[in-house]
Amino acid sequence: MPAVPAVVDALNTVLANTYALAVKTHAAHWNVQGAGFFALHDAFSKQYEDLLDAADELAERLRALGQRAPAGLKAIATAATLRDHGNDGGAALCGELRDDHRTLAAACAAALKTAQTAGDEATADLLIGRIDSHDKTAWMLAAAAA
Ligand SMILES: [Fe+2]
Repeated sequence: MPAVPAVVDALNTVLANTYALAVKTHAAHWNVQGAGFFALHDAFSKQYEDLLDAADELAERLRALGQRAPAGLKAIATAATLRDHGNDGGAALCGELRDDHRTLAAACAAALKTAQTAGDEATADLLIGRIDSHDKTAWMLAAAAA
């Protein structure tokens, strides 16, 4: 289907923030410390792999719409709105990543409305899956941060 600029913009922003959160989660995998190290180290590993898979799907949806995916880290960093955070240990990392997943769930919900308004059901379907994933991961991180 022909690309609608508002849908392309929304997808680009969600893709950039998904990639940014994958990098942040990978850093958490490296930097986590404390009594929960082993469980969190493994959980963060699963989470960044899921986020990279999601970034792949989002980028390939852009290509299916006839658009180019971001060319590199600078383009992704420019489009991303998530900010870096500290490395203050297990619970703090979980709380910060929980907030990022909540932010991304809200961004995906806004992008979903844009896609539905444009009649782009395939993009809408992709975004519904992303909302479900971010909600679930935010719940798990919130439980770990409690
Ligand atoms: Fe590793």
